Amino acid sequence: MRVTQAALEKVIRDAGAIGMKFFNDRKNMAVNKKAARDFVTEADVAIEAFLKETLTREYPEYGFWGEESGQSADQASRWIVDPIDGTHSFKKGQYGWSVSIALEVDGDIVLAAVYAPVFNDLYTAEKGQGAFKNGERIAVSDETELGDAMIATGFACLRNYLADNNLERFCRIAQRTTGQRRFCSAALDLCFVAEGQVDAFWEQELNLYDVAAGALIVQEAGGTLTDFKGNPGLFPKQILATNGKIFAQILPLM
Ligand code: IPD
Ligand code: CA
Ligand code: CA
Ligand code: CA
Repeated sequence: MRVTQAALEKVIRDAGAIGMKFFNDRKNMAVNKKAARDFVTEADVAIEAFLKETLTREYPEYGFWGEESGQSADQASRWIVDPIDGTHSFKKGQYGWSVSIALEVDGDIVLAAVYAPVFNDLYTAEKGQGAFKNGERIAVSDETELGDAMIATGFACLRNYLADNNLERFCRIAQRTTGQRRFCSAALDLCFVAEGQVDAFWEQELNLYDVAAGALIVQEAGGTLTDFKGNPGLFPKQILATNGKIFAQILPLM
């Protein structure tokens, strides 16, 4: 059955409402540690359970891959879900977390939604149909000068600092640009590139569920998606998203 944007919007808003209940009652929320520096809360699990039950019931032809429950049977078409992107921020009561849902059909991301419930901001995209924020079309920034650009990154912890000289990479970029920003959620970092709040975003060691939805939103907003060598495509382990206009200037710094 064809998935409509309206249907996807309803389900992600319902998921966000579940998150807000836990967010507003964090003191009573169970938190576990999945791995060093990777938490999972009761809210992550509840949102993912809701999305898995709803999406697989409504659209049985698609598989489901969520960060917390793993992959269903290996199907060519599947939902790719991050129930809370920015769990550490969520747990601390920060506002910049999101729910991320992408639909992959035969290996192609064709539908995307990223919802920031605290701000009630919903970013959406359908392949070939443009990118939107709260129903208004969005586009990447007009910034053409790297020296005036603001760059978001997410290397957040020792694991990423040490990986592949990210500290040196961060310093190279910081020396050549005007501002660096570390928000809370890779999915939203990509949406911020798509709407021109930042001019580029880079990070390593992400997973497909972190970036699948945000990547389509960047592409539909006119941005570029490559790895650090400039190969076009979605590379969760080495992602560079730009407004296109500063791509040739930032690539040599990666
Ligand atoms: C995290 C966020 C964060 C990124 C981390 C991710 P999670 O996702 O996307 O921005 O820097 O690497 O793990 O674990 O909160 O879903
Ligand atoms: Ca996580
Ligand atoms: Ca994530
Ligand atoms: Ca997550």
